[in-house]
Amino acid sequence: MIICIGEILTATDLAEIQSTAERIRFVDGKSTAGWAARAVKANLQAAGDDPLTEATLARLKRRIEAHPVFAMAARPHRFGPLLLSRYEAGMGYGRHVDDAVMGGVRSDLSFTLFLTDPDSYEGGELVIESPAGEQGFKLEPGHLVLYPSTTLHRVEPVRRGTRLACVGWLQSQVRDPARRELLFELDTARRRLFDEQGKGEVFDLVDKSFRNLLRMWVEV
Ligand code: NI
Repeated sequence: MIICIGEILTATDLAEIQSTAERIRFVDGKSTAGWAARAVKANLQAAGDDPLTEATLARLKRRIEAHPVFAMAARPHRFGPLLLSRYEAGMGYGRHVDDAVMGGVRSDLSFTLFLTDPDSYEGGELVIESPAGEQGFKLEPGHLVLYPSTTLHRVEPVRRGTRLACVGWLQSQVRDPARRELLFELDTARRRLFDEQGKGEVFDLVDKSFRNLLRMWVEV
């Protein structure tokens, strides 16, 4: 399942993060790529030893973790590293698959949180491949795309302007993507049922099924 989630950040978050990013030191992004991906990776990333990087990534992580739809779709167990990446004109990240283990965490899901107005740069789409074809994503700032780490994907070369984004990986409490998707849909239906009809007998049965399926499949 690939899902786009809006409004991870408030307008204030976004303005402050964009302004801080201008003062952060950026370095060559190749240092965090696996040996094969390194050959096709051409971008910049916020230096890990810059205190502004640490503060910005901590803030981004808090906002991402707190988003209820993200929590339901990803069921995070542990987060791998978060990176703040920047692509300037001529930069891109060719077709690759993410490493299976990122910072000691199994990567079940990858995400990109867009931080730049899409009209301010050309190119820079995140393109995800599947047997049904390719899907391109270039979202509004503060919006995130969550996708399986098992996919081949790329970032199209930026032809004009600058693309700033936060990328990250996580290990889910529910490893199997089909089970995770089923739980996401059942959880969504359960919440809608509660909103529309309150806590009745039907809700109680659906709620029981959801919780017991989660209990059956969860790894914590
Ligand atoms: Ni990747």
